[in-house]
Amino acid sequence: MAIRKVGVVGAGLMGSGIAQTCAQSGYETIVREVNQEFLDKGIARIYSAWDMLASKGKLSQGQVDENRARIHGTLDLADFADCDLVIEAVLENMEEKLRLFPALDRTLKPEAIIVSNTSSLNVTQMGAVTKRPDKVCGLHFFNPAPVMKLVEVVRTISTSEETIETVKQFAVSLGKTPVLAKDTAGFIVNFLLIPYLLAAIRMLENGMATRNDIDTAMKLGCGYPMGPFTLLDYVGLDTTLWAAEAIYDEYRDPLYAPPPLLRRMVLSGMYGRKSGKGFYDYH
Ligand code: 3HC
Repeated sequence: MAIRKVGVVGAGLMGSGIAQTCAQSGYETIVREVNQEFLDKGIARIYSAWDMLASKGKLSQGQVDENRARIHGTLDLADFADCDLVIEAVLENMEEKLRLFPALDRTLKPEAIIVSNTSSLNVTQMGAVTKRPDKVCGLHFFNPAPVMKLVEVVRTISTSEETIETVKQFAVSLGKTPVLAKDTAGFIVNFLLIPYLLAAIRMLENGMATRNDIDTAMKLGCGYPMGPFTLLDYVGLDTTLWAAEAIYDEYRDPLYAPPPLLRRMVLSGMYGRKSGKGFYDYH
């Protein structure tokens, strides 16, 4: 099936990055938010990324204008009616997703594919509340979505081979490298990344080393682009907590049990970069 028009639900950090990626890869893209303020913020983030790329000489002004013309915002899911593929990138809240998927199912044409950008929630359950579970799978992007080359394509027990092939080809058309993962909490990356990030927090809680030394150690000792605390702040402590809880719920493995400090920081509104404070201060 040919993908021409893409819908993105959610214009937060991930949704706007995904919409940016789709529009700059040549797709007619429509992005939906729940209110005008969130929508304006998301579109502004996309425009400023293109302006930044133009100022670095990576995009011409003509390309910026073309990209802008390909992206549209809406508050109304009904505008997705003629989309070929819709990417769900709302908050990591299962109740929210279980409300959204049947609504998308009712709105979209029968052949359209629905993918979720969830990092660790059950995609099979999202498909099961639609009448097209064979056309539902995961497509997990990494932050920052326009830059990170990987996407995880997540196959549920109901996803058809045809859907997987179409979504993989779509990922390649965005300049991404797809890997295939089963629908188990954490897929590939978070199953490995989350215990590493949680272990760093436990090291700090136990006073084994300082925040800066742990970050420096992993950057210079392992060649990682960011140390674990810089990455935690970058990904968001709330997002990390939700991912850890989802994987812990599935496996009950203490490796994934959120450390007390992480939960307390999230309860205090310390989400990392996006809230101005996390393990580092961004004010
Ligand atoms: N659109 C297009 N390009 C962009 C962009 C955007 N919105 N934002 C940045 N870029 C480009 C820049 O132009 C730059 O290109 P250049 O090197 O050719 O000039 C390049 O991306 C790098 O940007 P910066 O120079 O601003 O920054 P750094 O070189 O310091 O790299 C980083 C930043 C790419 C974030 C790097 O530090 C990194 O790879 N960090 C690790 C990120 C990571 O691990 N992400 C995965 C998190 S896990 C996750 O998301 C899963 C979730 O489920 C938890």
